Amino acid sequence: MNNISTYIGEHKERFLNELLDLLKIPSISADSAYKKDVLHTADVVKTRLEEAGCDHVEICETAGYPIVYGEKIIDKNLPTVLVYGHYDVQPPDPLNLWNSPPFEPVIKKTELHPEGAIFARGACDDKGQMYMHVKAMEFMTKTNQLPCNVKFMIEGEEEVGSSNLAIFVKNNQEKLKNDVILISDTGMIAKDVPSITTGLRGLSYVEVEVTGPNRDLHSGLYGGAVANPINVLTKMIASLHDENNHITIPGFYDKVEELSKEERAEMAKAPFSLEAYKKSLDIDAVYGEAGYTTNERNSIRPTLDVNGIWGGYTGEGAKTVIASQAFAKISMRLVPHQDWEEITQLFKKHFESIAPEGVKVEVKPHHGGQGYVTPIDSIGYQAASKAYFDTFGKTPIPQRSGGSIPIVSLFEQELKSKTILMGFGLDSDAIHSPNEHFGLFNYYRGIETIPLFYKYFTELSK
Ligand code: BES
Ligand code: MN
Ligand code: MN
Repeated sequence: MNNISTYIGEHKERFLNELLDLLKIPSISADSAYKKDVLHTADVVKTRLEEAGCDHVEICETAGYPIVYGEKIIDKNLPTVLVYGHYDVQPPDPLNLWNSPPFEPVIKKTELHPEGAIFARGACDDKGQMYMHVKAMEFMTKTNQLPCNVKFMIEGEEEVGSSNLAIFVKNNQEKLKNDVILISDTGMIAKDVPSITTGLRGLSYVEVEVTGPNRDLHSGLYGGAVANPINVLTKMIASLHDENNHITIPGFYDKVEELSKEERAEMAKAPFSLEAYKKSLDIDAVYGEAGYTTNERNSIRPTLDVNGIWGGYTGEGAKTVIASQAFAKISMRLVPHQDWEEITQLFKKHFESIAPEGVKVEVKPHHGGQGYVTPIDSIGYQAASKAYFDTFGKTPIPQRSGGSIPIVSLFEQELKSKTILMGFGLDSDAIHSPNEHFGLFNYYRGIETIPLFYKYFTELSK
């Protein structure tokens, strides 16, 4: 494409400053105290889409936070790319672990990013990656190189389950009609190892509650004679994995897609250093399901993890008490063919069935979504592959990710189109964690690569 790197060079500062401004707004969808900020972020995204050359941009109200929709239709006979992203972010806590305030973005050099990285909540997930698309759009419209139609759909509730987006998609099939969906909300293997995400895991998220005696009890007077909800809960949770770290819920693996030897061998070709992996996390050993490698455990295998657990006395000093109740939040990452609602039911049935006498157990389903896999022989994948080849000088490696973007499988179901996941983040970007960051290299390289996707997709669609 004509002079994309020149264009980026000329507008580098502004491209960065606009993103920094976006990162200053604390658009935390999970916390209603930030409602104004989340709404304000939607307005800013709208303005930026207009400036980038969209002809028609609107704020689409939902029962929750709005969806920003923008489009530029140049010719009905040309293909249409639908870009999806999210402007909401995860809560930044624990705040004390941030080296600089999460909503006061700073550029710092790191070992991995000698040219600098933007440190802020949402820098990578997903404001930085979403904004690459806005700037790629600007380049294409300002230099008259937009080769096809574009639609943008940027939501504000991804981090809280996208339930209103699901309704919006179901009700707006014609408006959202497209030939391919393009998303940058995942990662790549390394700065010099481009990859395209070909799979996402599904998710079932539940909360469990164990209730014992009708009040908190003196642990001396009652201890040993009454079921302690915390003891019971931890024992129940421990029983959910066997000695091989297989999940013990009956039926849990029934629909799990088993990869062939060939597919696993192909996966194993992706560059990976177990030593570097352990070092980056300060652990002396990895852990997981017997019979699978680390990269298999975190992508093609389902999991069950406690995300939070509480009950009893956790304040300063000691209090001798048997709590009346104990709680935990549990996530199950699912693989293709596992149905999240079915798995939620299997969990509920099993967890209730293993409750010992003397306690009551309640399982409350939260939210979830299906996993996703996409073939590598589609026009969309091929176009993305060529685009990466042009900017990285290497053919990208297809890679299944362990993360979830539940709305992707709904897109396929409702809009009947494939999603191409062109992620430019790195695992070390610390998304959802303190000190989230996004490399300047990754940001600009994303802006450079995206227009090439449009070009190749349009060419290959002919
Ligand atoms: N962008 C992430 C998902 C992701 C990150 C996928 C990296 C692959 C690689 C997304 O914002 C996210 O955090 N998703 C949630 C699920 C959602 C229902 C809250 C997740 O994966 O925990
Ligand atoms: Mn995201
Ligand atoms: Mn996220």
